[in-house]
Amino acid sequence: MGEQTLDPESWDEMRALGHRMVDDMFAYLQNLRDRPVWQPMPDEVRARFQEPAPSGPTAPGRVYEDFLETVLPYVTGNAHPRFWGWVCGQGIPIAMLAELLAGAIDSSVDGFDDAGTHVEAQVIEWCKTMLGYRSQASGLLVSGCSMANFVGLAVARNTVARDAAHLADSVDVKHRGLAGFAPMTVYASTEGHSSLQKAVQLLGLGTDGLRKVPVDAGYRIDLAALEAAIAADRAAGRRPLCVVGNAGTVNTGAIDDLPALADLAAREDLWFHVDGAFGACAALSPGLRPLVAGLERADSIAFDLHKWMYFPYEAGCALVRSDAEHREAFRYEAAYMAPATRGLAAARSQQFTEYGPQLSRGFRALKLWMGIKEHGLDRFRVLIEQNVEQAAYLGRLVEESSELELLAPVSLNVVCLRYRGGLEPDDPRLNPLNQELLARLQESGVAVPSHTVLEGRFAIRVSNTNHRTLSTDFDLLVAEVERLGRDLEKADSESAQ
Ligand SMILES: Cc1ncc(COP(=O)(O)O)c(C=O)c1O
Repeated sequence: MGEQTLDPESWDEMRALGHRMVDDMFAYLQNLRDRPVWQPMPDEVRARFQEPAPSGPTAPGRVYEDFLETVLPYVTGNAHPRFWGWVCGQGIPIAMLAELLAGAIDSSVDGFDDAGTHVEAQVIEWCKTMLGYRSQASGLLVSGCSMANFVGLAVARNTVARDAAHLADSVDVKHRGLAGFAPMTVYASTEGHSSLQKAVQLLGLGTDGLRKVPVDAGYRIDLAALEAAIAADRAAGRRPLCVVGNAGTVNTGAIDDLPALADLAAREDLWFHVDGAFGACAALSPGLRPLVAGLERADSIAFDLHKWMYFPYEAGCALVRSDAEHREAFRYEAAYMAPATRGLAAARSQQFTEYGPQLSRGFRALKLWMGIKEHGLDRFRVLIEQNVEQAAYLGRLVEESSELELLAPVSLNVVCLRYRGGLEPDDPRLNPLNQELLARLQESGVAVPSHTVLEGRFAIRVSNTNHRTLSTDFDLLVAEVERLGRDLEKADSESAQ
């Protein structure tokens, strides 16, 4: 046998298979409403994932059949019009095609004189404009908001520690690490996202370094409690580092008082980071922008384009107030990556590998670039406004129902509700009833909201970042929740007799 490659034995057959895949996926997207949102995977299918890696080849058509049989029917279903769990986008058809193009090119977008570098730099400029953020800011596309929070807090840690020249213990964390220095503290509300815990831990601050500040009745950070926590930490010899503002909490969509947090951070000499995973995108709408006012004053912002910009996974973005500070946190020395004066390695744009932890980086910018070009920002604005109106509509349906209740104020696009029927608000049967109700709803394939717990109450949580949802989908949701709730309440009272 001669020398080998991984290219197909028959390009014609592979091309035909590719065409079939594209046709199948367009049919899939076009007919999503005819499918269950989600369905559990049968045991016999699950067992097939135990098979060892084959040592020999399989015909490409057979490999694709495996996908059709074991993967496609059992995915999360977030592309479906009635998926409202966690915070997910649905994907955008042209972005799906862009993934195909990016896969064919297979560039690692690290900052060489590759068109991908310019595409990413342009997308980052667009992101800044979308959010109304400083034109001199730098940015980086990352896997998601968890990584964007990590990047923002990493820059915060290094910059604040180094610039605290007026303090006796100014720290050069980058070169000397944290050992021997006053413990640094980060402040976020109790509603702050779990990715902040991971970030502080990975940054060597320890999860004990994350102060979880209580919230008010609207699930916004309690400013007086925040100030008290900072003062207590200073008095105890700790070094307050950063305050994180939520622009849309994952539980209820609450938005902290960002202008007040920006003022407080300035007063206290703290970095101001905003976790705007989905809520930051509200800035795209002049009508909604006042809700996230103060975002533009952040020292760093983390947000996702795979949430409320609907793009396929993965697409997050970190924006940082100053290019120099951002780069300094991740800059490294390596002869093999040093920019050349000419040729492919010439530094013609941002050296992305110096702005985050990754060296090899996929061409995720292409799907954003093509999707934003195809639809234009106005279309995204309209969809975001539509989602907010739909959430308000669902909120009204719940309020008008004699059997359902809201468990938190409707904020942006998030609605937390439960079935209550004829039970008292503190009836202990309500949590297991709503838990069972949600499981049945998901297993029926009709709709997928997710869950959370608010003040001890199990909530069915609807997060509407879905460009395919119609208001009538919420009519159906409410009817189903009422029906399932009634059945469960009746069964419960019968079994008690
Ligand atoms: C408020 C908030 N922050 C951060 C994240 C983490 O984002 P990702 O899942 O893209 O890493 C999420 C995810 O839902 C979120 O809602």
